[in-house]
Amino acid sequence: MSEQNTPKGMKKGLTSYGDLDFSLFLRKAFIKAMGYGDQALDRPIIGITNTFSDFNPCHGNVPQIIRAVERGVMQAGGMPMSFPTISVHESFSYPTSMYLRNLMAIDTEEMMRAQPMDAVVLIGGCDKTIPAQLMAAAALDMPVIVIPTGPMLTGEHKGERLGACTDCRRFWGKFRAGEIDQQEINDVNEKLAPTTGTCMVMGTASTIALMVEAMGMSLPGAAAIPAVYAERLRHSEDVGRRIVELARQPITPKEIMTPESITNALIVLHAIGGSTNAIIHFTAIAAKLGIRLDLQKFDELGKKIPVLVDLKPSGDFYMEHLYEDGGLMAILQELKPFLHLDCLTVSGKTLGQEINAAPVKAVHQVVRSAKNPIYPVGGLAYLSGNLAPRGAVIKHASATKSLLQHRGRAVVFESLEDLTIRIDDPHLDVTADDVLVLKNAGPKGAPGMPEAGYLPIPKKLAQAGVKDMVRISDARMSGTAFGTIVLHITPEAADGGPLAIVQNGDWIVLDVEKRRIHLEVSDAEIQTRLQQLPKSVQTVKSGYRKLYLQTVTQADLGCDFDFMMPELTRVAPIPFGD
Ligand code: FES
Repeated sequence: MSEQNTPKGMKKGLTSYGDLDFSLFLRKAFIKAMGYGDQALDRPIIGITNTFSDFNPCHGNVPQIIRAVERGVMQAGGMPMSFPTISVHESFSYPTSMYLRNLMAIDTEEMMRAQPMDAVVLIGGCDKTIPAQLMAAAALDMPVIVIPTGPMLTGEHKGERLGACTDCRRFWGKFRAGEIDQQEINDVNEKLAPTTGTCMVMGTASTIALMVEAMGMSLPGAAAIPAVYAERLRHSEDVGRRIVELARQPITPKEIMTPESITNALIVLHAIGGSTNAIIHFTAIAAKLGIRLDLQKFDELGKKIPVLVDLKPSGDFYMEHLYEDGGLMAILQELKPFLHLDCLTVSGKTLGQEINAAPVKAVHQVVRSAKNPIYPVGGLAYLSGNLAPRGAVIKHASATKSLLQHRGRAVVFESLEDLTIRIDDPHLDVTADDVLVLKNAGPKGAPGMPEAGYLPIPKKLAQAGVKDMVRISDARMSGTAFGTIVLHITPEAADGGPLAIVQNGDWIVLDVEKRRIHLEVSDAEIQTRLQQLPKSVQTVKSGYRKLYLQTVTQADLGCDFDFMMPELTRVAPIPFGD
């Protein structure tokens, strides 16, 4: 069908009754029950995802954002129509939010496809939501603009700033070590999340919002404006006006999300010392576009990119300070020599044009210059070795430097249940030099790849003052956490990876400089142990869990369902000049 004849607005995707005119007649009859007139229905129709939920405080401001987008859409002559999709919050998702990300991606994609809309505003924020929405947008290729809900403001406790959830972990560690009492931990609990919005440290939500803006899928400023500021609503009004222009003159996600713009996002990931989770999500988003995210190249890229942003958990500040210092654009101004500046953005301008137009502010010096970085190279590293044949990651910017080269005795936990039962056992045979190993917490194992990679320090060691140990697993870790933690070991134990055969007392070598994670067991012994592993038996016979367990891919493919992935024919990242 030619562009001219492609149905638009209310005429898109008519329900099949064998008579298209009748389908349109019926559709209009029903929508008029909501009070819409023909004049309204003839306008470009702008879908707005409604991810508000009483179970999702990170999206508590979504109703206000929707109202603001609607104002902008109406000002520009469009017709706004919001529609619900799944909403996923980290603390209200059993077994894990990751288990539900693909469900949200499919839900969002199919609702965008099923209902008549010419362009869509995607409002998300909590960790898995924007990745799920962009997986949908990439698959569908309809004009979209992302509005993150924005970061929370910080709280205060005894004269110090507090933020979710780096300080949740820090204070819980103090409580476990007996350094603070029940009353104080209760007081802290009241202060950690003082407003609606996403975690205000450089956790997954902040990381994703900054990367998405760098990739060109949000208007400038989107990532850092605090959730409760009036400016976020004015930004949303701007998006409302711009999305109508995109409905009339489409720029689609495939034109914006290219190997080059994904490279820009990955450069930002390194420079902000962002969350390890972003690697999995961007692998999944890129895969929807037929782009394979090459983690070896990602690692090489990181060796050129300094960490510039001084935010918790690797630094000292919070997102509200980054906002006051100019947000993402201040970071990009420092990164210009590394970026593909000619990438198109949803504004219709190139990334380079947007960076040049951004005002320069520097109140707190949150964003360091490239000559005076927080850390000379990128915050994340890709590891491999006989323990992780298809890779693993470590956020070395948040690790204890003295542990980045370490040889230790394995103390093994077979599952999360085993960990819960034994980690605080006073008789546990463990010292600070050992390596804590958690198995069966990967995409299939848990299932849902929980953020369990931040294994707690055994209580008896914590009480003796131990703050960090080398910990390895096939799990993920919250972007708000810190420590010498090797994650995403692939293949996972439950998928027959070598992690499954590690035994108590085996020696493990971590060498981040050499990008190596190695089990000091002979190849022959590894093969013998692998052959002796019990065969896994699929006990789930029906439902979403069956679909999930049968089709979820490993971390190196983004943990999408295998049947949702196209063939991967292109590669990212592409360093500037290659
Ligand atoms: Fe939603 Fe942290 S729990 S962003």
